[in-house]
Amino acid sequence: MLKRDKAKQLQKLKQESAQFFKSVYKDQEKIMVFGEGNPYASLVLVGEAPGQQEVVQQRPFVGRAGKNLDEFLKILDIKREDIYITNAVKFRPVKIDPDTGRTSNRPPNREEIDLNRTVLYKELAIISPSIVVSLGNIPLRVLTDDNKLTIGQVHGRPLFISIGAKEQNMVLFPLYHPASIIYRPQLKDVYISDLQRLRKHLNKDNN
Ligand code: URA
Repeated sequence: MLKRDKAKQLQKLKQESAQFFKSVYKDQEKIMVFGEGNPYASLVLVGEAPGQQEVVQQRPFVGRAGKNLDEFLKILDIKREDIYITNAVKFRPVKIDPDTGRTSNRPPNREEIDLNRTVLYKELAIISPSIVVSLGNIPLRVLTDDNKLTIGQVHGRPLFISIGAKEQNMVLFPLYHPASIIYRPQLKDVYISDLQRLRKHLNKDNN
């Protein structure tokens, strides 16, 4: 498929998804943060859901977790513009503190994950990458269709998956979420060694 065709298909999917979510959420103010990047990428990164900064800029991974991600991409010698980055859920899931009225992030719930699942599968079907890298538990579970799997069990090793109605086969490489390093600095060494394994895997694929 030509590069411009994939770009066009992604644009169409973005518009259709916006309409679909509008019909579901009706008059709730929800801002969609769709995936971005090279539609012809051989590597797609899938995060959990956008945070505050991502909603402001309407781009995935541009806040604090995005800074960690950029650092990791440097280790892999990968440029952001060469890959495609998206999230399992395209909206910021929030909770409001009843006492202070403050809004903060929360993990997406089952309903939100299921509502977004088909959009992610369609995005991946258009791009058809040779490898999908999931960041954290949520995209791992969506892509393996296994709600019990934890990132601690499978990080840093390739898995074979089959997604969507067409059962498209892909290689999934699960990593911890880059934000987990912010909250659990002791994970950094594990993360670096997983990245080195991923780099080896990518080099092997390219030779
Ligand atoms: N965390 C994610 O999982 N995705 C983003 O886009 C930002 C933070």
